[in-house]
Amino acid sequence: MERPSVASVLEHQVKARPVPRHVGIIMDGNGRWAEVRGLPRLEGHREGSSSVREVTRTARRVGISALTLYAFSSQNWARPAEEVAGLMELLREFLESEYSEILDNGIRLNAIGEVDKMPRYVKEPLERLRRDSAHNQGMVLTLALSYGGREEILHAMQQVARAVANGELSPDRLGEKELEEHLWTQGLPPLDLVVRTSGEFRVSNFLLWQMAYAELCFADVLWPDFRSEAFLRCLAQYQQRERRFGLTSAQIQREDTQRAKA
Ligand code: IPE
Ligand code: IPE
Ligand code: MG
Repeated sequence: MERPSVASVLEHQVKARPVPRHVGIIMDGNGRWAEVRGLPRLEGHREGSSSVREVTRTARRVGISALTLYAFSSQNWARPAEEVAGLMELLREFLESEYSEILDNGIRLNAIGEVDKMPRYVKEPLERLRRDSAHNQGMVLTLALSYGGREEILHAMQQVARAVANGELSPDRLGEKELEEHLWTQGLPPLDLVVRTSGEFRVSNFLLWQMAYAELCFADVLWPDFRSEAFLRCLAQYQQRERRFGLTSAQIQREDTQRAKA
């Protein structure tokens, strides 16, 4: 009999324990992946699309409810025009080639960020997929496009300020919940885990508000090399963590025992 692969054993172990509901990924290192091979940076982005496909499938299989992928930041517009155009073209290709797979797997496609800034040839397939997958219940796949965490918080603050100015909201009634209703992630479950690839230890303006109590996994692998096995290792790491939310370890363990009895 053939030996099971490391990834399939890991997948089995990960599935046996609670998985994070919402995972965010900072997909970094495409350019370096290409550069070390003497290839144009765009080839790294192209290879990165295969990682997106593989990680999304794995997330769906292990039962993650929400996967948010940082595909293009507000700051990435400042890259050379040729690279930006290449990235937009790859996005369009991705949205078109994944159309059936997303629908067949019960995935709902969503986007956050200043999506209006994207070119029409990206916005159109994006809107089509968003509309056609709107009733799917399986997993929500959110693409962060022209996204920045500070930009998102500023946008929410403007909405709140407008509501106060109109007399619809009193400043004393503004709490976390009221602010969150104006974030682009409104309706998504709380962020449990953030993964960053490429060995960099920074968050680069990703989901700043939402990250407050997320667990972090930094993988020393460039995004095009980050496949199922590497992703499952991050999930397994997450399952080893004790999330304390400011409490003591003893309090958390007591809560767990009570929950198990109930
Ligand atoms: C991540 O890879 C993709 C985007 C930011 C769009 P990079 O293009 O940042 O790759 P490196 O970090 O330069 O290697
Ligand atoms: C973060 O990667 C943005 C995306 C993955 C889309 P960057 O490559 O833009 O981040 P920095 O510049 O290294 O902080
Ligand atoms: Mg980078």
